[in-house]
Amino acid sequence: MASQLNQVFMNMLINASHAIGDGNHGKITIRTGTENGMVWVEFSDTGKGIAPENLNRIFDPFFTTKPVGKGTGLGLSLSFGIIEKHHGRIEVESEVGNGATFRVWLPVRQSREEKT
Ligand SMILES: Nc1ncnc2c1ncn2[C@@H]1O[C@H](COP(=O)(O)OP(=O)(O)OP(=O)(O)O)[C@@H](O)[C@H]1O
Ligand SMILES: [Mg+2]
Repeated sequence: MASQLNQVFMNMLINASHAIGDGNHGKITIRTGTENGMVWVEFSDTGKGIAPENLNRIFDPFFTTKPVGKGTGLGLSLSFGIIEKHHGRIEVESEVGNGATFRVWLPVRQSREEKT
């Protein structure tokens, strides 16, 4: 479980840094908290944001806006699957030109099968 969640968080960070781009002094903010037996981890960036027409496609396998060789479009779809398997959920908010925020929710306690 831990290594899969590492993969999720690593993809969030790489996505945020790609959205910020070169030499822009962007900022990535990570926040966390707990609520009603769930823990949340939130990644906010000051990058270029996500177009509204793409917001419901970013979790699709192979959906990418990156040039060939830079992205496969699998990061968020794999992340979605991992989070779902752990009975969590993922939320996204973004405005073009104003960055993006991804919030991952996971139950504090996992059942036995999901601990491995
Ligand atoms: N923080 C973000 N800011 C702006 N756009 C984002 C952000 N995170 C994801 N996206 C958009 O969602 C698309 C899909 O992301 P995903 O992580 O699934 O694939 P990828 O990063 O393009 O490729 P891969 O992760 O497989 O290397 C990205 O191509 C980008 O358009
Ligand atoms: Mg990615």
